[in-house]
Amino acid sequence: MKLFTLHEAISSQPRAADFAQIDVPTPACPQGGILVRVVHLSLDPYIGARLRGSHMGEAPPLPGKEPIPGAIVGQVLKSNAAGIAEGDWVQSMEGGWQEISALKAGQFRKIDPARAPLASHAGVLGMPGLTAWAGITQLAKVGEGDTVLVDAAAGPVGGTVGQIARIKGAERVVGIAGGAEKCAIVTETYGFDACIDYKVEGWEDELKKALPDGLSVFFENVSADMAMIALANARTYARGVLCGLAAGYQVKSQDRVPNPLPMGTIIGKRAQLLGLVVYDFYPRWDEFVDEASAWIADGRLAFAEDRVEGLEDAPALFEQLMNGKNRGKAVVTVSPESV
Ligand SMILES: NC(=O)c1ccc[n+]([C@@H]2O[C@H](COP(=O)([O-])OP(=O)(O)OC[C@H]3O[C@@H](n4cnc5c(N)ncnc54)[C@H](OP(=O)(O)O)[C@@H]3O)[C@@H](O)[C@H]2O)c1
Repeated sequence: MKLFTLHEAISSQPRAADFAQIDVPTPACPQGGILVRVVHLSLDPYIGARLRGSHMGEAPPLPGKEPIPGAIVGQVLKSNAAGIAEGDWVQSMEGGWQEISALKAGQFRKIDPARAPLASHAGVLGMPGLTAWAGITQLAKVGEGDTVLVDAAAGPVGGTVGQIARIKGAERVVGIAGGAEKCAIVTETYGFDACIDYKVEGWEDELKKALPDGLSVFFENVSADMAMIALANARTYARGVLCGLAAGYQVKSQDRVPNPLPMGTIIGKRAQLLGLVVYDFYPRWDEFVDEASAWIADGRLAFAEDRVEGLEDAPALFEQLMNGKNRGKAVVTVSPESV
């Protein structure tokens, strides 16, 4: 079977040319685990940092040997796990860029293919959706009267943030995204009230106009600089969820510009900043999927996908994701849903 690995260890932003496809023997089914045919592979920004060994202390894959890490949705080929049978569907954060994954006990969750489109378990019902749900419902506790701002708003986290905020009663939802095409996804597909294109000169004035009464919640996906702009538009007692640093993932840590915490602004606005790590919410994944698949079914939660067919196209799509050029959730369909 085929898998993608790194040609050699990398220390900067990964490019498509850094990945090598190799043929390896099909792995054995682990004791207490399962063997899975990978159907949908999720490409996520944190993998860029993970490949350089700078994500949450997790080791990068061994070049030439181990697969590129990645979340997957797949179908069980063999099972040594209690309660899982051949043909069942699972989601796993440990699947990797390969045709068949051997997953140990605790590395997968069974999913119901009848509840929502299968690929949605890589995005809106997968880790990005869980991240949005955790930040909005568990940390910021968005409710009636809130005005919510989120950046990288065309992406799977940002787009879901705005929609869940609305479902939970937010009065106004504003996104920030790069380019007219992305802003159209934000307002037309996700139904935000407004989207500000930060690539257009004067965008900060447009943002102020889009938030006439200020924001009560911001959800930061991009950078400390963007968080400072959000804070400048915050009402008193605003809450800020600090989720991601997409603008910094490709930069070597020694090249990062130090960004002092705007203490005076935070104190003056009595703002609360809430750090979010989605791992803490993995035990609540099924609860989230129950809630969110009902929203998908009744049309309140939409998602956009940037999907390619075939594992061989994963490196090119990943390079686009690293450059912020994805339009919605980056997904690779590795094998057909029905065989
Ligand atoms: N804390 C957690 O546990 C957790 C979990 C999941 C995800 N996250 C983070 O949440 C954020 C959004 O994730 P996502 O999966 O929804 O990603 P995404 O939005 O599909 O992709 C990242 C986006 O960041 C924006 N961006 C801004 N400056 C960039 C730059 N210099 N280079 C590349 N992209 C840049 C781009 O959108 P624009 O063109 O619109 O700027 C890009 O499309 C990421 O920071 C991710 O790491 C955190």
